[in-house]
Amino acid sequence: MEDYKRLLLANKAWVQDKLSVSSDYFEKLAADQQPEFLWIGCADSRVPAEEITGTQPGQLFVHRNVANLVVHTDFNMLSVLQYAVEALKVKHIIVCGHYGCGGVFNAMTRKDLGLINKWLRHIKDVCRMHERELASIADDRERFDRVVELNVREQVMNLAETSIVQKSWRDGSGIKIHGWVYDLRTGYLKEIALMDAGSVLDTIYKYDYELE
Ligand code: CO
Repeated sequence: MEDYKRLLLANKAWVQDKLSVSSDYFEKLAADQQPEFLWIGCADSRVPAEEITGTQPGQLFVHRNVANLVVHTDFNMLSVLQYAVEALKVKHIIVCGHYGCGGVFNAMTRKDLGLINKWLRHIKDVCRMHERELASIADDRERFDRVVELNVREQVMNLAETSIVQKSWRDGSGIKIHGWVYDLRTGYLKEIALMDAGSVLDTIYKYDYELE
């Protein structure tokens, strides 16, 4: 059998499985979605958002890209964010990185990889911002792990710096922004950062909504 056909066959079995537990499973799912969480994760095939968090269809609104970046000019990510915050009214935004991330690994080298240089450049900036700390880590693996963690932390801050999140905080959304790292070697998630609604930001990024 051709590889891709396995997927279509598995889909049929999955439908039957769901229907055997609840005959109106798909009718209910099709009616509405009210996910409490927005997940921004890496595109890596080894980090399946629902599976590692034990969540079901309808519980996670998901955006994935190379190295789980929050780039303030990325209309794809911003559209997902705006919809999740303003229409779905999620309560939590989770940025999830992972140790062993190929995007982070390549950003730490000096290789010219073509188009993706432009994307990985955002991780190079994270390395530069934390140059001193990173230079003090002698072990290559440890330094790599630390860049993964710092990258997640920076993306959490990038989220808080968007007008979408700040406006929702002003309006009392209470959205919390979480930074997690998934460990491919153990399967466990680790909490790296947490920003509560109204967290203090660098003044330059803070919109002056209170003056309205
Ligand atoms: Co990755």
